[in-house]
Amino acid sequence: MPNISETLEQATEILQASGIVEARREAKSLLAFVLDKNQTFLVAHSEYKLSVEEKTQFQTVLERRASREPFQYIVGRQEFCGLDFSVTKDVLIPRPETEMIVEAAIEILRENARFCEVGIGSGCVSVSILHEVKTASAVGLDASEKALAVAERNAETHRVLERLELKLSNVFDNLKDKKFDLIVSNPPYISSEEMKTLQREVRDFEPHIALTDEKDGLSIIAKIIADAPNFLKADGFLLMEIGLNQAVKVQEMFDKTIWREIEILPDLQNILRMVKAKKGTRDKGQVKDKKPNLNYHFSLLISSSSLVPRPSSLVPFLCGLFFAIFQSIEKVVLF
Ligand SMILES: C[S@@+](CC[C@H](N)C(=O)[O-])C[C@H]1O[C@@H](n2cnc3c(N)ncnc32)[C@H](O)[C@@H]1O
Repeated sequence: MPNISETLEQATEILQASGIVEARREAKSLLAFVLDKNQTFLVAHSEYKLSVEEKTQFQTVLERRASREPFQYIVGRQEFCGLDFSVTKDVLIPRPETEMIVEAAIEILRENARFCEVGIGSGCVSVSILHEVKTASAVGLDASEKALAVAERNAETHRVLERLELKLSNVFDNLKDKKFDLIVSNPPYISSEEMKTLQREVRDFEPHIALTDEKDGLSIIAKIIADAPNFLKADGFLLMEIGLNQAVKVQEMFDKTIWREIEILPDLQNILRMVKAKKGTRDKGQVKDKKPNLNYHFSLLISSSSLVPRPSSLVPFLCGLFFAIFQSIEKVVLF
């Protein structure tokens, strides 16, 4: 039987040939997992000979990794916010950048607050928040029944299940008329085009429902922004992760008559990663105030008179402008 040192040597070559960048480090992690030891053991006992059973088990996990299956699916776990999460191929592997949502949520939530997560997946976000904010409770939504089962298991492991309600739902569709202090989400935001460019570990192994809307990557984000006001209390917050280069388009999706304090914050790599927005005190359909929306009238006039700078066309333009101002003073603008 080969010893640890020989096994690592061979495994590194196999992983390297499969295009895995940190082949030696990954070989060590896989062997430590199979032997159920830490990596110091591998160094201190490099002459230890593997049993037949250990060799067979190592062969199996090595083949899985060489086929580019993510390490986390092989070992069945991933750390997030200092907690250990069980992961299966039915859920996205928790990413470090998503910890931003948890940090921001902890700052926002007050005593006995209720929050909702759209696309709970493994439960890493909601479970971490509930683990930290002991008086909070939450509803976790997901379109995947199998993902909800993983979230349930993780909530149980970290003893927060009694404060977490799980529901199968397409975005908010199954939520009825609940109101929350906070809505969090890390939605599937990769476009179908971008999917083709992802590394094999992600594209071929992580659930597509967790990655992409199979469109432009913005459709679920848009639905969350449009529907969230119906499920937020006045002064409630939305925290949502977004993808690379989506900030400008996402900013434009917010109805500024409903939302306030819209911020898009960078992650540690300086990528604009998380939207934070506060719902105002008004809901859709409520009378805002008696101030007219002059910008709206003005832009309408310019587009309808198709002005090029000709003196003759200034006459109808100016008449129109005065008419609009006069009308606006009279008018109550409804949103
Ligand atoms: C990017 S993953 C996020 C998982 C987890 N919250 C995290 O941050 O690791 C997106 C999750 O949204 C779920 N999902 C996709 N489309 C959905 C939809 N239309 N309604 C609700 N959930 C959806 C997926 O099943 C997946 O669990």
